Amino acid sequence: MSSQGRIAVVTGGMGGIGTAICQRLAQAGATVVATCHSSEEAKVGDWQAARRAEGHDIKVYAGDVADAADAGRMMATIIAEVGPVDILVNCAGITRDSTLRKMETSQWDQVIQTNLNSVFYCTKPLWEGMIGRGFGRVINIASINGQRGQFGQTNYSAAKAGMHGFSMALAQEGAAKGVTANTISPGYIETAMTAAMRDDVREAIVNTIPMKRMGKPEEIASVVAYVASDEASYLTGANLPVNGGLFIH
Ligand code: CAA
Ligand code: NAP
Repeated sequence: MSSQGRIAVVTGGMGGIGTAICQRLAQAGATVVATCHSSEEAKVGDWQAARRAEGHDIKVYAGDVADAADAGRMMATIIAEVGPVDILVNCAGITRDSTLRKMETSQWDQVIQTNLNSVFYCTKPLWEGMIGRGFGRVINIASINGQRGQFGQTNYSAAKAGMHGFSMALAQEGAAKGVTANTISPGYIETAMTAAMRDDVREAIVNTIPMKRMGKPEEIASVVAYVASDEASYLTGANLPVNGGLFIH
């Protein structure tokens, strides 16, 4: 699977799944740019040193993907300093779990803003360039819980389902121009996001996974690498489930 010579941007690139995606795209020959939240800037040096020890020189740009102006500024800076972006992986995301009975408006707004509106803010500045050059890959990291819903996640399930609606519409706009748009919907993956769940709730969910284990970030990254590759030229508008059999439809 090759992305040789391509420039790839991974939002939330220093997170659990984001880091694995950066590693895999770098292995496939892409110049990889990770974006991180401004609050994570202190961790950038160590993160980049760890990637260099693995043989990859990954650039990092900081900004808030949930802020339209900041996301636009960040993408414009990446284009100016690194070059035209061929591959965008929208991976930044958060949870603010609560039953609807207890959910505050702020919990709803934060999740929609960070997980869904960010996809528009980050894709829009790169789209015209992809269309103009006749090549592009937009990959949205959604969730199994956007496909089937999850108790305690009306906000997150709505945002993740919305991401795939975006992919399906964008796929039609890019299809005749060499630009694909796809969604990948992971199941429960071993990262800080699932580590933050209540232990009893997480254990109960893992017991229902047919493979009887959570997934690893690398198991998502390898699918991203395929969808991002030059070889995946006829795949668009798809929602690829990577969930250990937890939701089969
Ligand atoms: N279905 C039906 N009923 C359920 C239920 C379920 N799945 N889970 C809990 N309930 C019931 C409980 O039995 C309880 O009933 P009673 O009041 O009759 O006793 C009631 O709902 C309240 O349950 P909780 O005690 O859990 O309520 P809480 O307010 O303490 O906690 C919650 C709510 C924080 C949302 C908690 O239920 C929870 O953490 N749920 C899991 C959410 C989840 O899966 N998050 C995934 C995070 S990782 C991620 O999002 C990555 C990804 O994409 C996969
Ligand atoms: P993670 O380790 O917490 O990574 C999420 C990353 O997004 C973090 O680096 C986080 O930075 C960044 N981020 C959050 N808000 C941001 C913002 N406003 N601006 C810029 N960056 C921001 O979690 P993960 O499990 O790797 O999740 C990655 C993606 O996969 C998310 O979209 C998530 O919804 C999705 N997903 C995860 C699972 C799972 O089980 N883990 C399953 C399905 C889908 P901070 O640390 O500074 O907040």
